[in-house]
Amino acid sequence: MTSRETRTQVVIVGAGPSGLLLGQLLQRQGIDAVILERRSADYVLGRIRAGVLEQGSVDVLEHAGVAARLHAEGMRHDGVEIRFRGRRHRIELKALTGRNVTIYGQTEITRDLMDARVASGAPSVYEAEDVTLHDWDATSPRVSYREHGVVHEIACDFIAGCDGYHGVCRASIPLERQRTFERVYPFGWLGVLADMSPPWAELVYANSECGFALASMRSRTRVRCYVQCPLEDRVEQWSDQRFWDEFRRRMGEEIADRVIGAPSIEKSIAPLRSFVVEPLRFGRMFLAGDAAHIVPPTGAKGLNLAISDVFYLHEALRDFYCARGDRALDEYSIRCLRRIWRAERFSWWMTRQLHQFPGDAFSRRMQETELEYLFDSPAAQESMAENYVGLPLEQAGVSMPV
Ligand code: APR
Ligand code: PHB
Repeated sequence: MTSRETRTQVVIVGAGPSGLLLGQLLQRQGIDAVILERRSADYVLGRIRAGVLEQGSVDVLEHAGVAARLHAEGMRHDGVEIRFRGRRHRIELKALTGRNVTIYGQTEITRDLMDARVASGAPSVYEAEDVTLHDWDATSPRVSYREHGVVHEIACDFIAGCDGYHGVCRASIPLERQRTFERVYPFGWLGVLADMSPPWAELVYANSECGFALASMRSRTRVRCYVQCPLEDRVEQWSDQRFWDEFRRRMGEEIADRVIGAPSIEKSIAPLRSFVVEPLRFGRMFLAGDAAHIVPPTGAKGLNLAISDVFYLHEALRDFYCARGDRALDEYSIRCLRRIWRAERFSWWMTRQLHQFPGDAFSRRMQETELEYLFDSPAAQESMAENYVGLPLEQAGVSMPV
């Protein structure tokens, strides 16, 4: 087995939205990066994930020069609807905050970023095996991997751990150097993608006696719908017919009457988890996106948080290479974590209010009271809207309390 050595400025591990976006932002700053991805590009594009973008995320994608198709095909929504006990309430996102959200699938963002990277000629290695970090705590880290049986080693200045929850980067850090926070929820989401013109104009989140359901969309001809399900359930237990029956029951009559049970294109069950690791910097290695945190999907924050982490990281690396020093790199972790914890709070709050939990009568009354308060109180609606459209990204150089 031969071995080849090269050098770059930043090695990015993972070609999900975090790694690809970081690559694109760095490329536009003239900073060299190599992306190493364990899977094939087709596999990465085959994963179905969420699709709600905050205005701040759209701004970052514009800044990265990858927003043309997003602007042409994305759908702007000025509100979302919550349903509970036969009551429907529209949270007026635009009227309450002046901002809206854009519906555009994560798969499409990934495709746009992959296309931009290919067009720029910047290097990506797909199906890179055994990615291993070396000397991440020293000033000259290295990353090795195997491709077609040949071992490669890349010397670099920094490693960006954009390799998701199951990645190698966080796993390379000794446990005594990291602190983790976790909550696992006692149910999952069964999601179905189907070609159907959405019979709802905006997203509908429903808390029903039978469990949570969400009516979402990907385009004017494609819907994405979810129902809360037991964690032990398997996809094979859920025929399309069973899924649509359950979805109709939870959504209530006037949506039920308009849903045609279109065949599923994709069907999967995902567990719900809240997770944060602290800090996000370990010597010359920086974590971003799902490698650093997981939110339950209820608040649609996962992708948006990944985008803000990566935006902060690219600013910190830009400052370093422009000889503006290490301060932004030193502050990266605390700057991200402030926003991460707020999104964790909101996602946890949405999850708690909208699902059926195995719990006591007191907890159920609390949930009912919270939702009724939300429906009746403009102040509560404004708070939800402010979080749903996304809290602002912090300006660089703002010092934060430690
Ligand atoms: N070596 C190389 N690549 C790896 C390794 C490894 N050892 N382990 C994981 N990867 C790759 C995965 O194959 C995946 O393509 O890292 C990538 C991580 O991508 P994502 O899991 O999509 O994470 P991220 O880019 O941070 O995107 C966050 O994804 O899960 C959603 O809600 C989340 O929308 C958010 C977004
Ligand atoms: C989705 O469209 O997949 C989606 C939308 C909103 C969420 C979660 C998922 O809160």
